[in-house]
Amino acid sequence: MKIFLDTANIDEIKEAVSWGILDGVTTNPSLVAKEKRDFKELLQEICSIVDGDVSAEVISTDFEGMVKEARELVKISDNIIVKIPLIKDGLKAVKFLKSEGIRANVTLCFSPTQAILAAKAGAYYISPFVGRLDDISSDGMSLIRQIVQIYKNYNFETKVLVASVRHPMHVVEAGLIGADVVTMPFKVLEQLIKHPLTDIGLERFLQDWKKAQAELKLEKVS
Ligand code: G3P
Repeated sequence: MKIFLDTANIDEIKEAVSWGILDGVTTNPSLVAKEKRDFKELLQEICSIVDGDVSAEVISTDFEGMVKEARELVKISDNIIVKIPLIKDGLKAVKFLKSEGIRANVTLCFSPTQAILAAKAGAYYISPFVGRLDDISSDGMSLIRQIVQIYKNYNFETKVLVASVRHPMHVVEAGLIGADVVTMPFKVLEQLIKHPLTDIGLERFLQDWKKAQAELKLEKVS
């Protein structure tokens, strides 16, 4: 399973890279807007830090506009994947961009039928949004189950990238289902490490060690 960070924040990306576990980054216009920086400069910096795919989203919603933006985005770095919304012109753009060797991450997927069409168009990644489905009392992870099964049935090469992840159980379920990638906010990545028994256990080990050292010192003195 590949782990991506869903952020455009340089500090968060650098921190995750330092842990040795980061496989890529996904951004979207909302995440980039939060950083209040020049889009291309920010992407350039992210791409120089991350050894893996970095998704950058187009703003256009028409075929020509998306293709134009995609061509510009891939000039930034070899590891750029162009994020394209799951609309009719988006599918057309995905197909066309593939013929130019440009890889697309098809975003805003909320149904298995959308995922089938994205795969048929030649998407490199499909991004189903699990959290936003949960938000409306739907079952985000069951969408992942359906897409993984359908892609398997037909040997579609499109990789399933679980997006809109809100908590560690989304990550666990994605792993059990066999999704290719999970992208998550930094907060969720941090939650993956934590376990109270680890903290308690470590504290106990260190206390026992300290106690034993102190006793040894006393024995030497007496
Ligand atoms: O990047 C797309 C997706 O991960 C957004 O997540 O939390 O805004 O639904 P969220």
